[in-house]
Amino acid sequence: MKSPTPQNPDIAGYDFGSEHGAKSPVSAEELQHLEQSLGWTGADVQLLKKHAALFESQAEKMVDSWREIIGSQPHLAKWFFTPEGEPDDEYKAAVKRRFVQWVVDVAIRPHDRAWLDYQEEIGLRHTPEKKNKTDNRRTPQWVPLRYLLTFVPVVTPVRQFFEGAITDRAELEAIERAWIKAVHLHVTLWTRPYSRDGLW
Ligand code: HEM
Repeated sequence: MKSPTPQNPDIAGYDFGSEHGAKSPVSAEELQHLEQSLGWTGADVQLLKKHAALFESQAEKMVDSWREIIGSQPHLAKWFFTPEGEPDDEYKAAVKRRFVQWVVDVAIRPHDRAWLDYQEEIGLRHTPEKKNKTDNRRTPQWVPLRYLLTFVPVVTPVRQFFEGAITDRAELEAIERAWIKAVHLHVTLWTRPYSRDGLW
């Protein structure tokens, strides 16, 4: 199976690599220290890349399953609601496309400056500085940090999506371990715009 290579798909508001997007103040050294703390290795990079096509084929299913959980809990669903208290379906559809692309990106994007900048952008898009701006919506102004963090254990178990294609138990577990580390790294970078100066 051919692995997808990093390229920018035509998705509204997906601004990876755009010069208009946020610039991350995180230094290469700080990133390296985060990766070290997580135990992120070259083997993780290779493993996710090796199975990138599988991530791509399962990404929508993964995102649908997570969003079902958001939709089923009013305190989570409400961050996607209009001021009239209805789900904003257009917003949900627009965000979903970028969320699906994120799954693929986790598997294939090198952790370079453009990637780091887009993590700052995604973090900001959960905060009042940028939430709603990309899609020009009127939903609540931010997603509370506490929900970003409590959602991590929801998106980390992924082996069920790959069991059909990968029968080697050890490989399956290694993929999931790499994914868990990658998600923690991403969400950690997204917490930066929520933090008071210097405390992150
Ligand atoms: C581990 C947890 C989470 C992950 C991995 C995640 C991932 C993402 C991604 C990849 C995007 C699209 C970024 C882009 O524009 O390219 C996004 C946007 C968004 N997420 Fe999250 N998210 C998480 C938690 C949550 C939670 C708990 C909520 C609310 C209950 C939420 C609400 C939103 C909203 C409303 C947007 C759109 C923001 C905008 O206006 O641009 N997210 N998320």
